[in-house]
Amino acid sequence: MRNHQPNPPKRNGILRFAMLALALALPSACKQMGHPEVVLEDWQAIGGSNAEQFYSSLDQVNAGNVDGLGLAWFADFDTRRGQEANVVMTSGVLYTSTAWSKVYAYDARSGKELWKFDPEVPGSTAYIACCDVVNRGVAVSGGRVFVGSLDGRLIALDAKSGDKLWDVLTVDTAKPYTITGAPRVAGDLVVIGNGGADYGVRGYVTAYDAKTGEQVWRFYTVPGDPAKGPDGAASDPKLAAMLASWSGKWFEYGGGGTVWDAIVYDEEFGQLLIGTGNGSPWNRRIRSDGKGDNLYLSSIVALDARTGAYKWHFQETPGEAWDFTATQPIILADLRLDGEVRKVAMQAPKNGFFYVVDRKDGSFISANNFAAVNWATGVDPKTGRPIESPEARYEKTGKSFSLRPAFLGAHSWHPMAFSPKTGLVYIPTQEIPFSYGDQENFTFQPGEFNVGAMTAEGGVDAESSRLTGAMVAWDPVKQEEAWRIDQAYPGNGGILATGGNLIFQGGPDGTFNAYDARDGDKLWSADAQSGVVAAAATYVLDGEQYVAVAAGLGGSNALFAGVLPRPDRLPNGRLLVFKLGAKAKLPEAPLLDLPPNPPDQIADATTVAAGAQFFGYCVTCHGAASKVTAIMPDLRRSASLSDAAAWKAIVYDGALEANGMVGFKDKLKPDQVEAIRLYIGEEARALEAQ
Ligand code: HEC
Repeated sequence: MRNHQPNPPKRNGILRFAMLALALALPSACKQMGHPEVVLEDWQAIGGSNAEQFYSSLDQVNAGNVDGLGLAWFADFDTRRGQEANVVMTSGVLYTSTAWSKVYAYDARSGKELWKFDPEVPGSTAYIACCDVVNRGVAVSGGRVFVGSLDGRLIALDAKSGDKLWDVLTVDTAKPYTITGAPRVAGDLVVIGNGGADYGVRGYVTAYDAKTGEQVWRFYTVPGDPAKGPDGAASDPKLAAMLASWSGKWFEYGGGGTVWDAIVYDEEFGQLLIGTGNGSPWNRRIRSDGKGDNLYLSSIVALDARTGAYKWHFQETPGEAWDFTATQPIILADLRLDGEVRKVAMQAPKNGFFYVVDRKDGSFISANNFAAVNWATGVDPKTGRPIESPEARYEKTGKSFSLRPAFLGAHSWHPMAFSPKTGLVYIPTQEIPFSYGDQENFTFQPGEFNVGAMTAEGGVDAESSRLTGAMVAWDPVKQEEAWRIDQAYPGNGGILATGGNLIFQGGPDGTFNAYDARDGDKLWSADAQSGVVAAAATYVLDGEQYVAVAAGLGGSNALFAGVLPRPDRLPNGRLLVFKLGAKAKLPEAPLLDLPPNPPDQIADATTVAAGAQFFGYCVTCHGAASKVTAIMPDLRRSASLSDAAAWKAIVYDGALEANGMVGFKDKLKPDQVEAIRLYIGEEARALEAQ
């Protein structure tokens, strides 16, 4: 994206009937795990279990019969916004969260909706949500369902009725905090992080008593204003160590390090592993005088699960300056390394390197790049520190640099999966280069996108035509690629691996697919009608294996990189549930065939140019140069485009605010709003002429 207006408020902004196979499959599934007594049929948490491997040993549906998979049932959600949640299925009830942090419970057999819960997130919150109004899932434990809401609350619901048990505010609402990540349950506690580091916030995680909602501890991932002293938080004993790695006035901006996705409960070691985010702002010159590692940005940090006390950390990108979050999903596993079984944590963060660390003490084991990387030439095999390419430090050289990977990551939140059966990790990767530059005249604008790294010379470079994706099957022991599936688009969905030698993955092209986990052979594909970016879950009910996935294109890729498979036919998000031999059908998606609707008046070039400039406020949601993103109305076809008063009511006054179309009366003047209308009008005329 180009910086075509001052400090743009930009957001980074898819038949064989096998009763016999079934009868044979279940016992073998239990044997494989070595815990015949443990019921493995449910999908109890995000990623399947606390280890978050996105793997199930179930093998009734397998590489030999997956072509018989059909739709058992589906449920419509109420929005076209993105769906990123991995469902939870326990005791015959399927729970999930959707865009706008709504929660649904279904009878997992019939698909009958049991209850739904709407936290009534104010529509204006959409403005400070960098990457769509998504939610990545719920935690279910002790008869309660927990969800984090976009506007910063942690909410407990009665699992049977959906009634609200408690609701706590976890953020300072004066700051641009949002929650899109799932809470995790650790014993009697429920833990939640937050996001907002692209806008200007200080990251932390908070643990609450699961029964009462009372706060038990909080750990700040970056230091606050030293003049204000300690926070009275679990992070206090580490403040001095953190402070020693910071300079300048980071606290005026926030510093960042937000924990917006990965939080993993490592029960064996009584610890929580949290993945921390990027610096706020990105530019280290602005944030920290161009110096220091800036603990604990872009790190895996282990905290005592009961007290929140620091145990260890491993920083992946010291002195982070490129939005290289380490918030990507963390997988806990046992790996045989040099003849010894090691208890490891594995992560493929945005920066392009695959890390294996010992989760006992955080010691570095190995790293290698799983995608094209040009910001570093490698990772020091002893320390795990990246060996930086000096020219990547745009904030030092003052020259813009086209980074691989860049802020959307070589891998983002889309869950990777680990199959203990194949020994491979399946990573949804992408290549989206972006050119960073030192924003010399940076001024912090509260509540706006504040990164300090986007300049007129920067932005999407000529290479951007190479936007691609790949599913990489990665050998975490050898630290090398086993094989890959090249994909035409970036932003492919999260991955589920199964004991049936299958991997499931959806795509922004509106397909949901099964591949052979051994060699990537494509075995099955379903038309999901909308892009599938969430990871699937699998479970057994009454002896039948199901595969469930949410469809609904959205998130930063849809909003920003804007892959649009079928813009004229896009239904609301849905839950899709498959099993062998099922034959349900989706209704045909409605055709959205509105004609371009330019206003009668022809605007002068100056007004159109000004309108294009002010459209910078709209780009994050509506797409650059009014090339519509997948999930937003095409403004060139809007009924309001030919009606100045209707346009003003929406854009200036905020008539559609409840739906996430914020009003701009605080940011724009009426004539500027009108200039945008005339600019889009010209775009509509151009479309009409095509
Ligand atoms: C935070 C995201 C966001 C931003 C920023 C944003 N919009 Fe919207 N806009 C939306 C959403 C969501 C809708 C659909 C609302 C609905 O479904 O009722 C929408 C709808 C609209 C509509 C009505 C389209 C129709 O259905 O006829 C217009 C006009 C519009 N936006 C103009 C703008 C302009 C101009 C800007 C910049 C000044 C802007 N928007 C910025 C999210 C956004």
